[in-house]
Amino acid sequence: MSLPILGRVLRSDSPSFCWVYSDSPAPLGTYVYTEFSVIDRATGSRIARRVIGIVSNSSYSPLMERPALTDLREDIPHDYRVPSISTILVYVVADITDKRPETPRYPIPPGTPIHPAPPEALRILYTPPREGYIKIGFLSEYRGIEIGVSVNELSRHFLIAGATGSGKSNTVAILADRLSQIGAPVIIFDVHGEYVGLEPEDKNPSRVVEREATISPYKIPPKILASMIVREAAATKQRRLLRRALRRLNKAIEEKTSKEGLGLSIAVERLYEERKIHGLVDAEDEEAVLEVKDKYLALLLKEIEIVARERNYEKRIVESTVDKVEEFFETSPIDLEAPRITDLIEPGKVIVINVSELSDEEKSWILRLYADNLLAYLKEGGASFRLGSSKMPVVFIVEEAPLFLPANASTPAKDSLQRFAREGRKFGGVLGIVSQRPRSLDPNVASQLQNFVFLKLVQEEDVRAVMNIADSLEESLAGILPSLPKGRAIVMGEWVGRFPVLVDIDEHRGKRRGATPDLYGIWSSGSGSRGRVIEEKFKIDV
Ligand SMILES: Nc1ncnc2c1ncn2[C@@H]1O[C@H](COP(=O)(O)OP(=O)(O)O)[C@@H](O)[C@H]1O
Ligand SMILES: [Mg+2]
Repeated sequence: MSLPILGRVLRSDSPSFCWVYSDSPAPLGTYVYTEFSVIDRATGSRIARRVIGIVSNSSYSPLMERPALTDLREDIPHDYRVPSISTILVYVVADITDKRPETPRYPIPPGTPIHPAPPEALRILYTPPREGYIKIGFLSEYRGIEIGVSVNELSRHFLIAGATGSGKSNTVAILADRLSQIGAPVIIFDVHGEYVGLEPEDKNPSRVVEREATISPYKIPPKILASMIVREAAATKQRRLLRRALRRLNKAIEEKTSKEGLGLSIAVERLYEERKIHGLVDAEDEEAVLEVKDKYLALLLKEIEIVARERNYEKRIVESTVDKVEEFFETSPIDLEAPRITDLIEPGKVIVINVSELSDEEKSWILRLYADNLLAYLKEGGASFRLGSSKMPVVFIVEEAPLFLPANASTPAKDSLQRFAREGRKFGGVLGIVSQRPRSLDPNVASQLQNFVFLKLVQEEDVRAVMNIADSLEESLAGILPSLPKGRAIVMGEWVGRFPVLVDIDEHRGKRRGATPDLYGIWSSGSGSRGRVIEEKFKIDV
């Protein structure tokens, strides 16, 4: 094989990386290849080794510390060059000598020539996606070598980390779409409403189900709903009062639904009418048309009053509880019939839960409910998911994880997500965490994530953080993270095998609304009504 020479090894501080010198720098992310021989200690004979590496840093240094003063004069021709050499840092990915890639064990001797990696050598290292894999993209700069991830390794969960605009959501779209194409139910907790309008690659619109997150006061466990409504840590009496009232009301509704076989909304309507006749709900303005959620609220306020009277709650406590309940019903998206997340699970579908309209606090509560519901559902399915079982392993992807999983604070969702990460894997729960600030990701959850997509990360603290989260990400490779172009990632973990791989993630072609509106497009197309009116007036004037 006669390959071009990029440079020669200058020094090898360890088998896993070496410094190479060259007359010109090599672009970061270039795959390189080299052959050298070592002496086999056992036999004394020379044996050949072949290794693959990735250029992870490149620099210039002048050969002379300071150019001669005369060189700085203004009349120096433009093409004047300071004699210099280029130093290239190569992360040695694997030894491919025996056709079965191994961790490199020998340092590369100084003087060894380094070449651009030929595709044949890379194919030894990276086997293309096959049965049980989904494709995620191509080997960086090698459009002929497809890269996939092993579906069965997903139970180790995954982390997608990268700066804003680096390609995280695109990666989510690729994974979600392709996993659902093989039949997986995938839930995306869509914090910014970015996945609204997601078109699947097979153009089958029924594969994506969009839902606004709504809250059913009946279906949420009273303990949790009471904590959502009365948030102050010290207000334990208010919470207890509300919890009791909720339990009593829900029990009455449940009796109606189970004994009389009524649907939930009808049951609430009936209960309201019955109690109204007996003067058990405060008479509303006759004219007002009450929605079922208003009737639920009226019933609940009456229950609060009753519980308060029975148990001698102070007036002050009752009043502030009532205030909070009323405010919650006014400001939150309440829907008595809101399905549980587990009611939405369907094989082969991407379920986009748009929570962008909720406050951060509400998002976090909803996330907690979902994580709890999903884990309970998965546990019912058991570890084996026998054929014909109505339960299914699910993929649950959470965007903007730092909001819910901060390292040094507690949020309503944190414990539940920790539990889902820890226990979910045994029961077929796959957690996908997306973060633009890995440095502030809760270490308890981070330690449960063992598959990785690392996109461009600029801040030093974030690079350090991902090196901590993925122990096998060495500094000599992590140095490439600040220079990665959009959509290019270091992918690591068992889902791609033992060695990290640099991937150009496929671009998801189905439209997404995206987190940022296309201001130029909207303004310049003049589709705003005001723009058009002004234009027309202008035309009339002339
Ligand atoms: N793999 C890719 N190939 C081509 N373009 C990409 C790729 N990934 C992202 N992009 C483009 O970059 C922009 C930002 O991507 P996005 O996934 O929304 O980033 P993030 O979620 O990290 O902020 C999008 O406009 C998208 O089209
Ligand atoms: Mg995004």
